[in-house]
Amino acid sequence: MKSFARAGTVAVGAVFATIAFNSTPTLAASISISCGAVGAELELCRTGAEAWAKETGNEVVIVSTPNSSTERLALYQQILAAGGDDIDVYQIDVIWPGILGSHFIDLAPYMDGAQGAHFPAIVENNTIDGELKAMPWFTDAGVLYYRKDLLDKHGREVPKTWADLAETARIVLDAERGEGNDRMNGIVFQGRAYEGLTCNALEWIDSYGGGAIVSEDGEVTVNNPQAVAALNEAGSWINEIAPEGVLNYAEEEARGVFQSGNAVFMRNWPYAWSLANSDDSPVKGKVGVVALPKGGADGKSTGTLGGWQLAVAKYSSDPEAAADLVRYLTSEKEQKRRAIEGAYNPTIEALYKDKEVLEAVPFFGSLYETFVNAVARPSRATGDKYNRVSNALWNAAHSVLSGNEDAEKALADLERELNAIKRRGW
Ligand code: GLC
Repeated sequence: MKSFARAGTVAVGAVFATIAFNSTPTLAASISISCGAVGAELELCRTGAEAWAKETGNEVVIVSTPNSSTERLALYQQILAAGGDDIDVYQIDVIWPGILGSHFIDLAPYMDGAQGAHFPAIVENNTIDGELKAMPWFTDAGVLYYRKDLLDKHGREVPKTWADLAETARIVLDAERGEGNDRMNGIVFQGRAYEGLTCNALEWIDSYGGGAIVSEDGEVTVNNPQAVAALNEAGSWINEIAPEGVLNYAEEEARGVFQSGNAVFMRNWPYAWSLANSDDSPVKGKVGVVALPKGGADGKSTGTLGGWQLAVAKYSSDPEAAADLVRYLTSEKEQKRRAIEGAYNPTIEALYKDKEVLEAVPFFGSLYETFVNAVARPSRATGDKYNRVSNALWNAAHSVLSGNEDAEKALADLERELNAIKRRGW
């Protein structure tokens, strides 16, 4: 058994729990897996891992990690740098194979070709120097949630552009506040200075045709008039249609406001769907989901590609059992369960045609193109420098949203900063 599980301690940013089903204690492996805890994530990870433990007679230790992708990366880097075997299976972000890949084993020999059923682009994303460093678990793309009931009540259409969205938000907000609904907001999103803001900023910029910060061949492209227009637009929302508090919101803060009925629009990932429609949700049945608005009539509708993978640490004392847990959790059966229960997007293409999946999450069908064409953050081009690139971007975006800098200056400075990182090599 893992040392910290036995001690039952609560480590910095992590909680440990052990679940054992051991019919044959002497042979059983004890595998620990780090899972995210955003929304219903931890519970779904636990039930999946428990089912594997029961089926195989092994034992699993569930390690809960911080919600913020940025904090989770810092925690993983610390643990992996120490090289201990405390965590066998890591849930890793789609942007991390280049940063953390050297700590993980090649999973291909353990998967019997199962990776062939998953979206090839994600498998390729997870392949470094020919080694499959992680198996795709779920994919993600930013989408727009809206209150069907409020748009109907105030006679508004679902917005097609960000300008439409701002106008509709203003109208609905003023009317609702006029009726004494003081806590209503127009839009909530992820405006805190962390990885989530990078995702939102990339969506605004790409929707205006402003590119993906750094091009696939490593050129810094972020300083352009479309990107300036995009950030200015988002900056104009603060204290108008978005609460100032959004500058400190991550996914769950945005969901909290929207789900309690206090926002007309929300930018979030698909997971919020199941929770917004849960029995105790004040907005159950009142929510629609569409692709994010375009940046102007000539712009495009886009969502940032997100998602999580499962990887096995080189330091694991039982890589074979750990890889078996990964094989189980990334299987079609488990991805189907997670799609139905938690609106986690499968990475297995066939599940987007599954009747039960589409019944539970209709927009997996209607927004299929959004999911498969999502815009990737520049993690391939910038490799192990990606987190520094993203950090510079989210700081620039945050200072524009906060009104500390205009977008033109922020992006000119960002371009210089990114070129300086580039000169040291990516
Ligand atoms: C979601 C995405 C992930 C992204 C994170 C940012 O978890 O799946 O890729 O980095 O949000 O907050």
